[in-house]
Amino acid sequence: MTANKRVIVTGATGLIGKEVCKELIARGYEVVVFSRDPDSARAKVPGAAEYVPWIPAESGPWAAHLDGAWGVISLAGASIAGKRWNEQYKREIRDSRVIGTRGLVKAMASAQRKPEVFISGSAIGFYGARDATPLDESAAPGDDFLASLVRDWEAAAQEAEGLGVRTALIRTGVVLDKTEGALAQQKLPFQFFVGGPILPGTQWFSWIHRDDAVGVILFALENEAVRGPINATGPTPQTNRDFSASLGKALGRPSWAPVPGFALKLIVGEFGETLKVGQRVIPKKAQELGYQFKYRTSDEALRQIFGS
Ligand SMILES: NC(=O)c1ccc[n+]([C@@H]2O[C@H](COP(=O)([O-])OP(=O)(O)OC[C@H]3O[C@@H](n4cnc5c(N)ncnc54)[C@H](OP(=O)(O)O)[C@@H]3O)[C@@H](O)[C@H]2O)c1
Repeated sequence: MTANKRVIVTGATGLIGKEVCKELIARGYEVVVFSRDPDSARAKVPGAAEYVPWIPAESGPWAAHLDGAWGVISLAGASIAGKRWNEQYKREIRDSRVIGTRGLVKAMASAQRKPEVFISGSAIGFYGARDATPLDESAAPGDDFLASLVRDWEAAAQEAEGLGVRTALIRTGVVLDKTEGALAQQKLPFQFFVGGPILPGTQWFSWIHRDDAVGVILFALENEAVRGPINATGPTPQTNRDFSASLGKALGRPSWAPVPGFALKLIVGEFGETLKVGQRVIPKKAQELGYQFKYRTSDEALRQIFGS
């Protein structure tokens, strides 16, 4: 029964958040959108019960809305791949997630009627840049900037368990979507016949179709067995070279013009290092708990996205 279950969503206007809200509304939940810009959120995410002004902070008038809410889904954060990182932007990437999460958990602590479930966005950046070793949820964290950020982000979210709120940490891989996110940038050179793998090409690429990224979040929300970290990545990660070949095939373009790591670093800065080294992440917990992936291979996912 979802009627009268209020679910608060931060980051509701983002790539993943918009679709999560759509699905929640379709399933009969009452959605409360927390946004830095509620007016534009109303246009981007129609059909929510309320649009509440929110910024990532330790406290604020928004905190009262957590009292009596059934669930909280936290997906807000400054874009990781959208801009070159400098020290100031790294602080924004970090604070928007860690302080934002800490504030939500503090509000849960003060609430008389606490939420039953907290779904906290997280990322496979937790594992750091790795070799070909398959990484399930038990793998150790990495030690680069993203890994240390994700560790602190997850630790802030995990505090909710101590309040009796079931907490799931969604370690999402690279989300494949036609118009937003990494794929939208990656497909461009292919469309101009100069697409290809990021060198060396043997590094692993852990992708997930947008519908499955949303599917795992809803699965975690509704399934009481889901607690702690859960990898949201497709069941068949690939090397960068194989993924590029799939992308070329789906776009009807060759995959022949490799991107050298140093060029990538010039374009996207420090984040280029993660793309150059890669990670081979396995969605062990989601599969063991019975989540059925809609898109099991990148060929299936890309065919659906590009209609080829
Ligand atoms: N997309 C991926 O491939 C991917 C992969 C791994 C992990 N994730 C994680 O999953 C979460 C959702 O991803 P997404 O791709 O949907 O994100 P997104 O499209 O970049 O949207 C995130 C939302 O966060 C809010 N936001 C943006 N900048 C902010 C800032 N400086 N401070 C506070 N809030 C800010 C915005 O909502 P308002 O303007 O309405 O406040 C925005 O719509 C993020 O935490 C992301 O790191 C995504």
